[in-house]
Amino acid sequence: MSLESPLIDRFGRRHTSLRLSVTDRCNLRCFYCMPEHGAQFAPRESLLTFEEITRIVSLLASRCGIRDLRLTGGEPLVRRDLPELVRMISKIDGIKDLSLTTNGLLLPEFARPLRDAGMKRLNISIDTLDEQTFQKISRRQGIDKVIAGIDAAIACGFEVIKLNTTAVRGIAESEIVSLVRFAVDRGVQIRFIEFMPLDTDRSWRTTDVLSGDAIRDIIERELGPLVAVAPPNPSQPASEFEFVGASTETGAAGQRIGLIQSVSKPFCESCDRIRVTADGSIRNCLFSQQEFSLRDLLRSGADDDQLVNRFRTAVDAKAAGHGITEGTFSPPDRPMYSIGG
Ligand code: 5AD
Ligand code: SF4
Repeated sequence: MSLESPLIDRFGRRHTSLRLSVTDRCNLRCFYCMPEHGAQFAPRESLLTFEEITRIVSLLASRCGIRDLRLTGGEPLVRRDLPELVRMISKIDGIKDLSLTTNGLLLPEFARPLRDAGMKRLNISIDTLDEQTFQKISRRQGIDKVIAGIDAAIACGFEVIKLNTTAVRGIAESEIVSLVRFAVDRGVQIRFIEFMPLDTDRSWRTTDVLSGDAIRDIIERELGPLVAVAPPNPSQPASEFEFVGASTETGAAGQRIGLIQSVSKPFCESCDRIRVTADGSIRNCLFSQQEFSLRDLLRSGADDDQLVNRFRTAVDAKAAGHGITEGTFSPPDRPMYSIGG
């Protein structure tokens, strides 16, 4: 039995968090992620099986100090029998935090089975409360299902539920205040994520980014002043804010708002994440140009040391930062749905 040896990169960053995509398929077509037509999906046989995933997670937890696991997609709930995978990985020693990022559409059906299988935390994406705007963004119907999904999840008693809004300039401005009120009413945190160059259509421009500062201004103008507070986890990407004093209008005293300023204030310095795509490639960053195949190793009978070494190689190659706003930046070959959020 080998001793645990953490995944530390050339810049001294220790990697304790794994984001693992379980499928690149999705039941929405959000313009900032997928094309409207003709999305290219990985062939089904290339997806890591539940057994392969369980092996990888067990190894990373026991040998490399991975503590947090987040399941992502595409939309993870379209992967068949996902609660069964959750049941398998929630038993792995060393995984302290197990979470899921979802668009919420299937939560009315899956919130309870996920919770029963051992899922602890959920991040649910919601960009608007209005059906027309929802359809404009996601090119599908169903904001009522997303809202029902959020309420179903709240009723199931997850440890933490956060709402995530992707902030695209020209769309998000008019949605922010009603979304904050919606979150405050339900006692859940809402976080606004700056639009990043991960869209399939490659239409991202810096001018499409609604910055965290602009979002804060909009919230403060309508709902009262915010004050920065220390986040519970120092390596988390979101800065957190609270309303000053008791905001009588919103009843929002103590209610936290998160800003994820990936573009305007990158947090690469404190990054503790590695990623595995649904088809079994290791990525050391959302924006990296390089991948390290795990699936070939897994399927050619590699032993545990070989698998762990592939992760070490990937972490050793990690760059200092994404450099989105630098002239030399070029987006990754895979768009968001195929990397995993
Ligand atoms: N920029 C920022 N966030 C994005 N997401 C998807 N594509 C992008 C992008 N280009 C978000 C989704 C969801 C999470 C999985 O990632 O809205 O909240
Ligand atoms: Fe699907 Fe999420 Fe991409 Fe929207 S952002 S298309 S919900 S994977």
